[in-house]
Amino acid sequence: MSAVAGETRAATDVLVEVRGLVKHFPLPARGVPGRRRHEVVHALNGVDLDVRRGEFIALVGESGSGKTTLANCIAGFLDPTAGAIRLDGSPLVEAREGRRRVSRHVSRRALARDVQMIFQDPSSALNPRQTIASALLEPLLVHKVLDKRAAQTRVRELLSLTGIPATMGGRYPHELNSGQRQRAVIARALALNPRLIVADEAVSRLDVSMQSQILNLLLDLHRDLGLTIVFITHDLSVVRQVADSVVVMYLGRIMEACAADVFFAQPSHPYSNALIASTPRMLREDEQLQTLEGEIPSPVRPPSGCPFHTRCPLAEERCTEAVPPLEDVAPGHRVACIKA
Ligand SMILES: Nc1ncnc2c1ncn2[C@@H]1O[C@H](COP(=O)(O)OP(=O)(O)O)[C@@H](O)[C@H]1O
Ligand SMILES: [Mg+2]
Repeated sequence: MSAVAGETRAATDVLVEVRGLVKHFPLPARGVPGRRRHEVVHALNGVDLDVRRGEFIALVGESGSGKTTLANCIAGFLDPTAGAIRLDGSPLVEAREGRRRVSRHVSRRALARDVQMIFQDPSSALNPRQTIASALLEPLLVHKVLDKRAAQTRVRELLSLTGIPATMGGRYPHELNSGQRQRAVIARALALNPRLIVADEAVSRLDVSMQSQILNLLLDLHRDLGLTIVFITHDLSVVRQVADSVVVMYLGRIMEACAADVFFAQPSHPYSNALIASTPRMLREDEQLQTLEGEIPSPVRPPSGCPFHTRCPLAEERCTEAVPPLEDVAPGHRVACIKA
């Protein structure tokens, strides 16, 4: 390794750099009465995010805030409309609004070695006709990283790493319970030693005891392997158990980003406050559960100014005028609110 490369590596602890990410989904105009042509869903509206190496970062926000879209852009399943994503300093994808061509610097297949996603439903992620062991073997053989013998050793290692008894390797997904299936999905995600795991609502369908087992597994992997994890959830009570830092999204924008302990002790954005106050398991005994008033506005026609102003208890006239920039209120604490 050259001295220069060594320096570059030491100079940054950022693994994933997302800059100005925009994702629009054009809506088909035909056949929908009253729908204007060229209407688009504004799923992401300029997201800037750094994921540090070894960080366990939680992406939160109500359904429809753009979390999955952001994850899919990072994992290469979706091309952004505008913006750029870098992994370990190297460009993955760049897009400019108005230009048709998206520059993808790394193929989806190559990216799969570095970035792996875990989804909500483990059943759909596993082939029902494939045993767990062969599901783990497959990526190793497809990517030709190990010969068959070494791959089989690796499969045993993956089973043990994720707490699946070796005897279960020969079983089919339907012979496992939902927690064991999610372990198998995690084991497969780890097969190629990815640098980043994106877990999208990975524990949302599990019951509470199974949830905490899978959360503990992710925490162990994070600690023992130094794994970087982007953990997506709409459930804040889960975040408190696992995350180093929290990123709050609303209508395709980041509203607040900070360390998890700061977030729970002193949330600065009114939306963060509302989210915490509306999560039953987040409250102290003397606190009352409050529902988040109103609906999320349509991302087809998002509100002017701050996207949260239509539901914000602190909103004033100037909140409707310009989108508040995401600014540092303290080191490592960014908030997009003119009143923060
Ligand atoms: N393929 C798609 N086509 C059209 N709209 C989409 C598509 N995928 C997501 N959206 C819309 O983009 C917005 C953000 O969705 P999503 O990223 O799934 O949010 P979240 O994961 O936070 O619930 C939503 O309004 C959703 O309906
Ligand atoms: Mg989602």
